[in-house]
Amino acid sequence: MAYKTLKEVLKEAEEMDFTVGAFNAHNLEMVPAMIEAAHEEGAPIIIQTSVGTADTEGMRNFVAVCKSMAEHEAVDVVLHLDHARDIKDIERAIAAGYSSVMFDGSLLSFKENIAKTKRVVEYAHKRGVSVEGEIGTIGGTEEGFTVKEGNYTRPEDAIKFLQECDVDALAVGVGTHHGQFQSKTELNFPLIEELHSKLDKPMVIHGGTGVNEEDYHRLTENGIRKFNVGTELLVSWTKKAKEMFGKTEVNESLRNNIIPCNESVHNIIKHKIELFMNKG
Ligand code: 13P
Repeated sequence: MAYKTLKEVLKEAEEMDFTVGAFNAHNLEMVPAMIEAAHEEGAPIIIQTSVGTADTEGMRNFVAVCKSMAEHEAVDVVLHLDHARDIKDIERAIAAGYSSVMFDGSLLSFKENIAKTKRVVEYAHKRGVSVEGEIGTIGGTEEGFTVKEGNYTRPEDAIKFLQECDVDALAVGVGTHHGQFQSKTELNFPLIEELHSKLDKPMVIHGGTGVNEEDYHRLTENGIRKFNVGTELLVSWTKKAKEMFGKTEVNESLRNNIIPCNESVHNIIKHKIELFMNKG
């Protein structure tokens, strides 16, 4: 078991028909508990960080923890930079040792998205690092409710994008929204099925917190190989932290407050991975 690239774990997922969970780490403290969950399930895991979290904790520190656990805990770990819009951030993450990056050109014109994604792919692949691209946009939320509709990915755009850009995975807009935790979304399955039949690349679901767990199996069956969950972990960790810090003394050992927070994230990840493994 080892520190892996996105390409390597998605190939395995494709061959064995499962989906790899990609979980946003919101601090460094929760990472060992996240990886331990995958280890217990005998599954690979993608730990992903936003640029902001990576810079708060230190990119090299994330790399060190992920690499160390992959080597010593018999589990395959990918460390992925989520939604990078600035190529300089991608270069920094690769220099620090991330094994995968996402270039998010979804706010650019189609032409510019292709041109910049191509540049990133060339740069990353030369250094043995995988790349996720995005076509279409994923909507946003406020207070956990949808406020900004995303644009659905148009199959003809995705085909053209993949002809030009040799990405290792493609994020698609199919009805999900980042940060949706107070409600669930309605996925556009006819579109997902069409994309699956026309595209020859692993697809990625963003905004996984807002997806019904009953839909997971159908997503796996339709070529979704990477599934992102962020907000659900954040909400769970924060709720538990409020509860614990609210009732303990100020001189209580910090670990007595933090361990339950990490455990809540650990339990969610274990449960999700069981569903993603698609064992029926
Ligand atoms: P959620 O925070 O909505 O689960 O989305 C995570 C994500 O897609 C990160 O890119």
